[in-house]
Amino acid sequence: MKVLHTFRDVREFAQGSVGLVPTMGYLHEGHLALIDEAAERCETVIVSVFVNPLQFDDATDLDTYPDDLERDVELASCHGADVVFAPSLTEMYPTRQRTTVTVAEVADAMEGEHRRDHFVGVATVVTKLFSGVRPDVAYFGRKDAQQLAVVTTMAAELSMPVHVVGLPTVRESDGLALSSRNTRLTPSERHDALTLSQGLFAAARLFGEGERRSAALEAAVRDVVIGSPGVQLEYVTVADASTAAPIVTVTGPAFLALAARVGSSVRLIDNVFIDASTGTVDTGVKLDGPSILYGGDDPCC
Ligand code: PAF
Repeated sequence: MKVLHTFRDVREFAQGSVGLVPTMGYLHEGHLALIDEAAERCETVIVSVFVNPLQFDDATDLDTYPDDLERDVELASCHGADVVFAPSLTEMYPTRQRTTVTVAEVADAMEGEHRRDHFVGVATVVTKLFSGVRPDVAYFGRKDAQQLAVVTTMAAELSMPVHVVGLPTVRESDGLALSSRNTRLTPSERHDALTLSQGLFAAARLFGEGERRSAALEAAVRDVVIGSPGVQLEYVTVADASTAAPIVTVTGPAFLALAARVGSSVRLIDNVFIDASTGTVDTGVKLDGPSILYGGDDPCC
């Protein structure tokens, strides 16, 4: 396993089919599931670790984003990564970034509405990773459902020779979606945050019983979350899975997504995928025990 810091070194090292797992580090089981899948399918697995300032609209969120490269390297290596690519800020942005990537419409609602220019930052850095690393396949979590739609659209519309794969959200054993930001929750905030997944699961059950009206599904989430005064919902929206456009009725693949502030400083997102053409629901997969985010050992290492 190599730790490399330049695009050129990564390209020189890579052989055969290349799988890229883009991350901002402080890996958890959600990232590890992406690495496992890449290791199964690709000859060279590259995990990028770069906290991208361009996609943060909140300086505190950027400043407090957890980082521990040594820990990430150990975890990525145990799960079959061949390279951890940890570029410096100047490797990623050698000059003032005048060229940016905007994915119209797909990036407009939900996160696009609440985090100014967030997706310009995401699309720009992912474009740089795709053109600098040149992966055949890139793996993203479905937890960032709108991001997945943005990146998939961007890759298709800009004829990027990469296959974008989305994998299910990984949840803690009580349902909370894994996020590096969970480490910043106090025990009581963490308890409050559970209403987010509980609300989504309640809506998913309603969908399973045949409800297709977005307003009813969104209301089912609000009914649960309202019980936690420490949680401020920013949005709850049903959107088309590939265009991320809000929809009134679910007729095909879609997701029900939310964002919320928990306590004073932590902003979390979560979703469930629902598909009216098959009647199926993807609420993600749950861990059996505590996450490695809280200092536990990864059974693989
Ligand atoms: O999902 C993330 O961690 C980031 O948005 C990504 C895709 C690594 C781009 O910085």
